[in-house]
Amino acid sequence: MKQSEEFTRRMESRYDELKWLYCELYHNDRQGLAWLCDSMERYYEERSESCKEKDRRREANPDWYKGNDALGMMMYTESFAGTLKGVKDKLDYVKSCGVNLLHLMPLLESPKGRDDGGYAVADFRKVQPELGTMEDLKELTEECSRQGINCCMDFVMNHTSEDHEWARAARAGDADARRRYFFYDNWDIPSEYEKTVPQVFPTTAPGNFTWLEDCGQVVMTTFYPYQWDLNYGNCVVFNDMVGNLLFLANCGIDVIRLDAVPYIWKELGTNCRNLPQVHNLVRMMRLVCEIVCPGVLLLGEVVMEPAKVVPYFGTVEKPECHMLYNVTTMASTWHTIATRDTGLLKRQLDQVCALPREYVFLNYLRCHDDIGWGLDYDWLKNFGIDEAAHKKYLNDYLTGRGYGSDSRGALYNDDPRLRDARLCGTTASLSGLEAVLYERNDAKKETALSCIKMLHAYLLIQSGIPMIYSGDEVGQLNDYSYKDDPFKRDDSRYIHRGKFPWKLVDAKDDTAMEIFHELRKLETIRAGRDIFAGKASVETFETGNVHVLGIRRRLGEDVITAYFNFSGENQTVWEMDRECATGAVDLCSGRALSDFHDELQPYGYAWFGKERRKCNDGCSSIRRIAG
Ligand code: GLC
Repeated sequence: MKQSEEFTRRMESRYDELKWLYCELYHNDRQGLAWLCDSMERYYEERSESCKEKDRRREANPDWYKGNDALGMMMYTESFAGTLKGVKDKLDYVKSCGVNLLHLMPLLESPKGRDDGGYAVADFRKVQPELGTMEDLKELTEECSRQGINCCMDFVMNHTSEDHEWARAARAGDADARRRYFFYDNWDIPSEYEKTVPQVFPTTAPGNFTWLEDCGQVVMTTFYPYQWDLNYGNCVVFNDMVGNLLFLANCGIDVIRLDAVPYIWKELGTNCRNLPQVHNLVRMMRLVCEIVCPGVLLLGEVVMEPAKVVPYFGTVEKPECHMLYNVTTMASTWHTIATRDTGLLKRQLDQVCALPREYVFLNYLRCHDDIGWGLDYDWLKNFGIDEAAHKKYLNDYLTGRGYGSDSRGALYNDDPRLRDARLCGTTASLSGLEAVLYERNDAKKETALSCIKMLHAYLLIQSGIPMIYSGDEVGQLNDYSYKDDPFKRDDSRYIHRGKFPWKLVDAKDDTAMEIFHELRKLETIRAGRDIFAGKASVETFETGNVHVLGIRRRLGEDVITAYFNFSGENQTVWEMDRECATGAVDLCSGRALSDFHDELQPYGYAWFGKERRKCNDGCSSIRRIAG
């Protein structure tokens, strides 16, 4: 088949819908649409033959990313290996972690000190010089592809840096450039917006607008004052940003993370989140990718409650994102660590499990951002739990101020008016490892290590793709050096963005290796069994013990029953389902489940399945009660 025929075929089957959506949003602007279609064809032609080959393979097998071995890792290029070339040199380590989806955190040009960790892009086509060049990026994605690793990158689409050429021109008075943003001569309209739009960073960047002294204008800045919101009501913005997206795709990126996507449409009198037009825009981006680069996936960053997240999958006929973050489950997990009560988590997982299996969630324990306490307070209210008081409890516990807590988190954007602080910290520090290493308390160290391992075992059994936060696999602790950097000291998210602890890896540090090997064992079991694939059914079950979460996976005849003890004490669990219990062994240790009656050690876990698998001794966290 000739290439252009391929493009035409894909375009023809989607053109009507694309045209409909575009014309609806952009007041029937046919010229704008024609421009978009021409540019799509150009990007298609420029796409490398190897990327096109991948596209064809994936078009023929649309479930290609839902396998049982899918394992992600997110990392900062600079922290992990200094430069993109450095990451390429360290791919052996990435592979040794079993990772086949690598999320490289923002690496495009952004001004030093006004970059929000790379989320203020000044040039969508240039790599930060300290990290390398576009060529290096392409070489890295090619090498990854050769080694079976897919690459994910952020597409920071809600805003640009104030240093972007569009922003500079707007600042200088160029009327066209100003129409790409939200510019106002005075505060009249911005003040109206402020009545209904909540604040993202109430402490570190209050308000949603910024006064530009030099040109006497007010500009919309939902995030930091140096991140200017793009106006997607202007089709030129959409067309150009689609061009930037396709440019990234043509660099060999397999997964595009749509950063802060709920915010991309603004309307006076609303909260400017998740408006219907956002879904039109995402659907159009999906269509564009299906036409130009169907092997590329869209991952939506929607840090909202489940009812707001799920619509970003679109419908079966009109899908939007391929994958979304399982953010409420993540927050509910840390609530469970702090309360040792699995009730809310079970309820949350039940809601996720009830969704169609086509929906793929990206599961994670920690990421580069804070943990926001977006929990199901309507449900918690039934138990007399008040939202503000509960957030305070969680923050106290996870910052180590709560009774009996070894957690070492830090508050983030503590808004005293709303009593609404969020939380930062690495998995290991939140799990107590930092405190007990400092105290040199070996007994407690075991408990902290068990907590880290249990959390990962629980992560790996969920429905969807696990995304490990680089460093968590070796128990990376909080890094306090950000406090010495004037550009970072106000943003406590840097506490969990420290340099990768190569020293621990190179020296084969006992503690680090204990976590690493346990994870590898679990990941290997997962990659070796079909029951961990997206097509399996996943459900929770009643364990008879509020501290212990039960998750069951089923595929055909195969069943896995897993227990996770979210408390620091021994807990008894019951397996009432005879069919599941008979002949079941812990897949990790090979031990049998005895007469429906077992005891989990502090933060212990077990994955019971029917097959005996060989593995090294010493990884069981479940033991039979004598007698
Ligand atoms: C996303 C990123 C976050 C950033 C924000 C603004 O939410 O995850 O780190 O601060 O977008 O770009």
